[in-house]
Amino acid sequence: MPVLGLIRDVYKEREPLRGVTVAACLHITTETANLALLLKAGGARVHLCASNPLSTQDDVVAALWSEYGIPAYAYHGESDEDYYRAIDRVLQEKPGVVMDDGADLISRLHKKAGTSLGSVLGGTEETSTGVLRLRNMAEHGVLRFPVIAVNDAYTKHLFDNRYGTGQSAMDGVIRATNLLIAGKVVLVAGYGWVGRGIAARARGLGARVIVSEVHPVRALEAAMDGFEVATVANAARVADIIITATGNTSVVRKEHFALLKKGVILANAGHFDVEIDVAALRKVATRARVLRGVIEEFVLPRRKKVYLLTGGRLVNLSAAEGHPPDVMDMSFANQALSVAHLAKNARRLDPRVYPVPPEIDLHIATLKLRAMGLKTDELTSEQEAYLKEWRLGT
Ligand SMILES: NC(=O)c1ccc[n+]([C@@H]2O[C@H](COP(=O)([O-])OP(=O)(O)OC[C@H]3O[C@@H](n4cnc5c(N)ncnc54)[C@H](O)[C@@H]3O)[C@@H](O)[C@H]2O)c1
Repeated sequence: MPVLGLIRDVYKEREPLRGVTVAACLHITTETANLALLLKAGGARVHLCASNPLSTQDDVVAALWSEYGIPAYAYHGESDEDYYRAIDRVLQEKPGVVMDDGADLISRLHKKAGTSLGSVLGGTEETSTGVLRLRNMAEHGVLRFPVIAVNDAYTKHLFDNRYGTGQSAMDGVIRATNLLIAGKVVLVAGYGWVGRGIAARARGLGARVIVSEVHPVRALEAAMDGFEVATVANAARVADIIITATGNTSVVRKEHFALLKKGVILANAGHFDVEIDVAALRKVATRARVLRGVIEEFVLPRRKKVYLLTGGRLVNLSAAEGHPPDVMDMSFANQALSVAHLAKNARRLDPRVYPVPPEIDLHIATLKLRAMGLKTDELTSEQEAYLKEWRLGT
């Protein structure tokens, strides 16, 4: 993670987070450990909890505690009760800055409105679903401190959501099933940044890809990118693999179960485990059993078997290792620089959702290009003047 390394060198010297306590609710993976170490190098006290019960890498938690003295309250497969207990535990530290991935920590903090809300200067949010929830909170006048939408930085969603989730979601499906993707029909529900990435990777592996959407522009884009576009109901009859990536609820639901092709694999890459209506699937099924750890087999009426991966939780983090470090390098660079920005400026900001300052976004792109050994051209003075001159034409 060369960009994080470059930022760490600067943070070690300047300590922009000296005296700041950070409570971070993130997927606890090796990449997150690197971010925690960087924040610590910058002078922060860091306390971690998980943003999903199935994404925690236990060896990372152990190393954070024993090797680096960073408290991480999480274990793989934790109960809902322990998940929220861990959030409450990091909030007891009276954080100055909170980092969230899905907004569970920030919404919990606001619902409980205990003493720690007073200590919080601001927060950051990593993912599309969290940003949506926080914007809802701001619209309802509930949000009590400024939050930076890290997800919306170009150097985050263009690469993390698209290439990171695109690759790691297919990796999760492959690791879980060992299926050959070539020749399969893959339905991708949602053609946002994540859906675009998954559709492209599935096509690259030789699948025939169908996209379902609710937004006319996104559906058109998918069609012109060369994918078939269909409703879930129509595509369900032919899809061998269905992957949801909408951030929405009940995208694959009861009315679709009777239509599913025999042997279909159901997986989700969206933030919460609500995109496939698993409760309804359990009700409809005559029998269910766990196979190979992360695969659950459901027998539906007429003895049709369908297979659900990782209980409908994000497949890339539950059945594989999540995004590769190359993309988290940029996502977490946005987090690290946004935390320092908040530590410095939050007192002057209203309680709203803010974009990552564009200069941070550009700086990260520049550092990443440098780390990749790539160079860009520079505008000549003639070109700069031309771009500002409206009088010039044919
Ligand atoms: N698994 C991961 O590691 C990972 C990484 C990044 C984002 N995410 C999550 O993935 C989800 C999608 O993120 P994104 O950045 O692509 O969001 P996005 O807003 O760019 O795209 C979501 C798309 O889904 C469409 N959609 C909504 N409801 C639908 C429905 N019922 N049927 C079909 N399409 C529907 C929307 O029109 C939109 O085009 C979010 O929950 C996000 O938090 C997961």
